Amino acid sequence: MKQPRVELIGTGRHVPEHILTNADLETMVDTSDKWILERTGIRERRIATADETLAFMGKLACEQVLESAGVDVMDVDTIIVGTASPDRLLPSQACDLQATLGAENAAAFDVGAACSGFLYALAVAEGLVVSGQARHVLVVGAERLSKITDYQDRSTCILFGDGVGATLVRARQERDRGILSSYLKTDGTLAELLYRPGGGAVHPPSLEMLNDRSYYLRMAGPETFKHAVVKMADACHEVLARAGMSPDDVDVLIPHQANLRIIEATAKRIGIPVEKAFVNIDRYGNTSAASIPMALDECVREGRITEGSTVLMVAFGGGLTWGATLVRW
Ligand code: COA
Repeated sequence: MKQPRVELIGTGRHVPEHILTNADLETMVDTSDKWILERTGIRERRIATADETLAFMGKLACEQVLESAGVDVMDVDTIIVGTASPDRLLPSQACDLQATLGAENAAAFDVGAACSGFLYALAVAEGLVVSGQARHVLVVGAERLSKITDYQDRSTCILFGDGVGATLVRARQERDRGILSSYLKTDGTLAELLYRPGGGAVHPPSLEMLNDRSYYLRMAGPETFKHAVVKMADACHEVLARAGMSPDDVDVLIPHQANLRIIEATAKRIGIPVEKAFVNIDRYGNTSAASIPMALDECVREGRITEGSTVLMVAFGGGLTWGATLVRW
């Protein structure tokens, strides 16, 4: 018997209400709306209040997923969360989400792959479903990056925002729809292009850390940019080749929303018209692991993705990590 495909059967997202505009950032650091818009494509991003925890936002996003999938929360047997900014370091974000959601029958754990977290989590979910270990897996990308962003560093603080996106996967015996191929890759030797120096066991929290700001995220922007374009395009070519398909077969490209110029350059390098690339970075900035599932939900609800659409999702982030997933919706 052939392996089942793994299909995505629902989507959901939640973003905080508070908007941080480029004009707001002009009052915080030496920057301008013009520079931010031209160099990144971002106009505004959402910032969570103290009450808007990832568990809280994740619950709202997952409830939308379950409603759109027509699946009861008690039938969820696994929750996987991709995040780099969990509510707390122990237990995992997925445990807190499981409790808030009331998904009593689910095992829950996080995947740490920074901005690639959602696609890594999706690949793990696919494996659990195909091997028969799980039936309904909630796959979540959730970030409250505002809590690990240095609002004195103009090169990073203009980029990031908060939000959650999610989907549900299950097996499908008919092989006409579902995940066609996926590809994950890492280069740990490039970790220090995008990382948080302090706060872990090597440099545990200290007063010094508050002064040198090493608790916050740091990024070598231009160098990361170059890797992003090349590696995302490579990942797309790889998943297309694995599925025996070409760039022309893709209906919708959902790239990680890191920078509009990266999205445009990546689409060009893959050989996909830029109009096929979904963009919402103008409204949400870079929400790391949440960016792809948030975009996916927007595409589905807007009718840009419909039954039979070929969807190519591609991510890149700290690690460095990158990957792509090709889906027939
Ligand atoms: N406002 C105004 N000027 C700024 C600025 C800001 N917010 N941030 C940086 N600058 C300045 C720099 O100081 C530099 O000035 P200089 O030429 O006098 O030295 C100039 O703008 C150009 O800086 P640079 O860092 O080369 O800009 P850039 O065009 O590469 O854009 C990023 C910076 C961060 C937007 C861009 O590099 C980027 O998006 N990088 C990759 C992000 C990514 O992929 N992340 C991985 C996934 S999360």
